[in-house]
Amino acid sequence: MEIINRRQRMSSVSRKVRRDQDRTIGLVPTMGALHDGHLSLVREARRMCDVVVVSVFVNPAQFAPGEDFERYPRDLTKDTAVLTDYNVDYIFAPSPEEMYPKNFSTYVTVEGLSEQLEGVVRPGHFRGVATVVTILLNIIRPDFAFFGQKDAQQTLVVKRLVRDLALETEIVILPTVREPSGLALSSRNAFLNPEERQSAAVIHRALTRAESAYAEGERNGAKLASLVRSTIETEPRARLDYVSVSDADTLEKLDKLNDKTVLIAVAARFGQTRLIDNLVLNQRDGVKIKS
Ligand code: PAJ
Repeated sequence: MEIINRRQRMSSVSRKVRRDQDRTIGLVPTMGALHDGHLSLVREARRMCDVVVVSVFVNPAQFAPGEDFERYPRDLTKDTAVLTDYNVDYIFAPSPEEMYPKNFSTYVTVEGLSEQLEGVVRPGHFRGVATVVTILLNIIRPDFAFFGQKDAQQTLVVKRLVRDLALETEIVILPTVREPSGLALSSRNAFLNPEERQSAAVIHRALTRAESAYAEGERNGAKLASLVRSTIETEPRARLDYVSVSDADTLEKLDKLNDKTVLIAVAARFGQTRLIDNLVLNQRDGVKIKS
């Protein structure tokens, strides 16, 4: 395994793999502090591709001032050790100056999708995500790039930008990995104290209740949203940011669900930590089920 810090070296290594060796490349973009959610993506990349690149880059462009960029957990030594066990070929870990050279001034904005849900609370967030993902895809030119359903809106933004800009990478979305309590794994869970961590499992309990109501025939979006909201409100440590019931492709708010594929997305705070999670109802093709 090689750790690469430079854009140019990463480009030339990828070019060589593609041209001289005719092998497929899989990219797993991450911000490090790796957990089993990330590693499920790495495992699938390893299974599907000849060469696996994991990028580890805490992307300043997707954090707003006052967010947790400075205190975001970073431990490249530990991440490197973990990725060695997973037989990863390259770690791409550029510095912010390398990723965003002096006078950097070109950004990618996925209009519409980026302004909903997380975009309301975190303006500029998806511009930062779309920009860094575009740069990564251009440097590495992977055949496949792997993303987690945990960040549902991010998967939509990335799929849209790949289609709109005619990039040649296929985006693979994998299911959310959870703790036994149902809490979705997240690097930010490290900020939760034991009580908050226990409380945070309420998010998944609430989504599961909505899933059961849907299975029993409930097709009213507002009713499902209020079921999720009232369940989360039973937990005194939770401060709910939003519950949204929307079309899973466009994020348009839905009142009557009918036979549409529906995304129920939640954001809530526990102490200083803001967590997101979601549930997809009536999934057609979307999330790949691992074999
Ligand atoms: P990060 O939060 O490190 O997540 C990297 C990838 O891991 C994302 O695709 C995310 O959806 C996935 N992931 C996180 N928790 C997961 C879980 N519990 N189960 C399954 N997958 C999970 O998302 C980012 O970084 C950044 O925005 C990035 C795409 C790297 C751009 O900077």
